[in-house]
Amino acid sequence: MKPFIMDHPLIQHKVTLLRDKNTGSKEFRELISEITMLMCYEATRNLPLKQVEIETPMAVTKSNVISGRKLAFVPILRAGIGMVDGILELVPAAKVGHIGLYRDPVTHIPVEYYSKLPSDVDEREVIVLDPMLATGGSAIDAISKIKEKGVTQIKFMCIIAAPEGLEALTKAHPDVQVYCAALDDHLNEDKYIIPGLGDAGDRIFGTK
Ligand code: PRP
Ligand code: URA
Repeated sequence: MKPFIMDHPLIQHKVTLLRDKNTGSKEFRELISEITMLMCYEATRNLPLKQVEIETPMAVTKSNVISGRKLAFVPILRAGIGMVDGILELVPAAKVGHIGLYRDPVTHIPVEYYSKLPSDVDEREVIVLDPMLATGGSAIDAISKIKEKGVTQIKFMCIIAAPEGLEALTKAHPDVQVYCAALDDHLNEDKYIIPGLGDAGDRIFGTK
């Protein structure tokens, strides 16, 4: 499936502020939340609607509400946590699962250390959240894990993607619609995204 690269000016402006090395953790977290909210608008565009009858103070009328599968959000720990508050502002009834992965510093292969998904996750549409798609290993493994639970409708939302990660992810999971706010140039020898924004987890949680 062709990835959806956001071109909205508000998103582009906020991504520029996010990349800036002088942006501190507080502002960084706020920007991640705001960008996620704006991206959620696009990622939920195709949710099905049904008509219900309601009564306004003036008349009885038919009006649309969201129908179909309920949503679950699954952040990839740690950095994906930064995207949860923003998306829950817009879809407060969604359930939230967590998948913990870290990249081995030498091999860059993801190592799983935690997983907890909603018990009815197979009845939901899942949006996986992670600000960074670098080699794609973490996203690919997280999505495989979610599919093992019987989930058939999955979207992946990231803020910065590397071409290498995007290619690997769309090849491994061609059925997953990917949304990203920016498509960057390349990965360096340590598999960091260039120009990127550095280590997303460290910048969100102030650990460096
Ligand atoms: C970062 C990021 C992604 C992953 C992307 O997490 O949040 O999960 O790297 O890289 P990949 O596409 O090459 O797998 P990291 O492993 O640094 O863990 P952290 O969130 O705990 O800092
Ligand atoms: N993880 C990050 O946090 N940043 C990168 O550039 C690559 C992986």
